Amino acid sequence: MPFNTALTRQLGIRIPVVQGGMQWVGYAEMASAVSNAGGLGIITALTQPTPEDLRKEIRKCKSMTKNPFGVNLTLLPALVPPDYAAYAQVIIDEGIRIVETAGNSPGPVIKQFKAANCTVLHKCTTIRHAQSAVKLGVDFLSIDGFECAGHVGETDITNFILLSRARQSLKVPFIASGGFADGQGLAAALSLGADGINMGTRFMCTVEAPIHQNIKQAIVDAQETDTELVLRRWRNTSRLFGNKVAKEAVKIEKESTSGKFEEVAPYVSGKRGRQVFLNGDKDYGVWTAGQVIGLIHDIPTCEELVKRIEREAIDTLKQAQTLYIEEGTSAPGTVGPKTNNPGAEIWGVGRSKL
Ligand SMILES: Cc1cc2nc3c(=O)[nH]c(=O)nc-3n(C[C@H](O)[C@H](O)[C@H](O)COP(=O)(O)O)c2cc1C
Repeated sequence: MPFNTALTRQLGIRIPVVQGGMQWVGYAEMASAVSNAGGLGIITALTQPTPEDLRKEIRKCKSMTKNPFGVNLTLLPALVPPDYAAYAQVIIDEGIRIVETAGNSPGPVIKQFKAANCTVLHKCTTIRHAQSAVKLGVDFLSIDGFECAGHVGETDITNFILLSRARQSLKVPFIASGGFADGQGLAAALSLGADGINMGTRFMCTVEAPIHQNIKQAIVDAQETDTELVLRRWRNTSRLFGNKVAKEAVKIEKESTSGKFEEVAPYVSGKRGRQVFLNGDKDYGVWTAGQVIGLIHDIPTCEELVKRIEREAIDTLKQAQTLYIEEGTSAPGTVGPKTNNPGAEIWGVGRSKL
């Protein structure tokens, strides 16, 4: 077990990489592949129409991996909200001991999970919300920076600031979410004080992700500039893949004089978004993706991806140790400070003349 963080210890996983809940992606196939690879796979409860369907999906996942996996329960505003308490009860009854919660007013379900001795990872986009979740008794925070896919919140703070704020002010361990795709990112997150990372978009682009190949290829072909923020006007901002429908939705949102949500609603329909993953037409509806699409260039298996992240992170952390020299010693074969970067030397000279 090369990694030894609060996350690997508490969850019993080999590498501190979590696959975050993903609507219409987080099925047993996805979660078990990530858990088999040594990370933490997560089933998304609301991909299942009823709590009883969730029970079946959990049982299916148990038959596909012997390793720990979790379940995500996302609480979003809805005219007719799902029976969250019933979904939570199935998760508990099925013996799931790791739960990812996200969304509005999670108090009652967090209480339900904590009473059943579950480890709760709560996802949030602000330090203020993180602090409220700590009061509710969560075990880990999953800090979602502005780069992330899906609900980015309304404060637009990227992970460089958010993670250090989390390190400075949170009393419970946290993982970094949003914008991660490789081991360099994992090493950076650990350096900033996180105990691991959470990835969504990167795991969509794996062999086992149960979505159409065309969508995986669309992610590979995309750049970091190819996402859109929709629904800001209604303070429910979501980062989506920047396809034709998302761009049209943004146009209507910006230009509408009435400001009525009904005008944009048909464009952001979740039903059409779900079809995209099945029919492979990337412009059929809106679908969620993060800025990290610019860092994704292939479609590996989860095993290959997790192994690669592990190797890259270890190499990066080792390499970091060569970037400083203990006072009073010099690196073997060098005299004076390390000078293998001529650009830095020139920059140094230029600055000293200022
Ligand atoms: C297709 C997709 C669907 C998602 N659905 C959910 C969801 O239902 N609930 C949730 O908490 N997060 C959801 N997320 C967010 C992820 O769990 C994770 O926080 C996010 O993807 C991290 O950013 P990244 O994509 O840059 O890795 C979704 C992400 C994607 C890509």
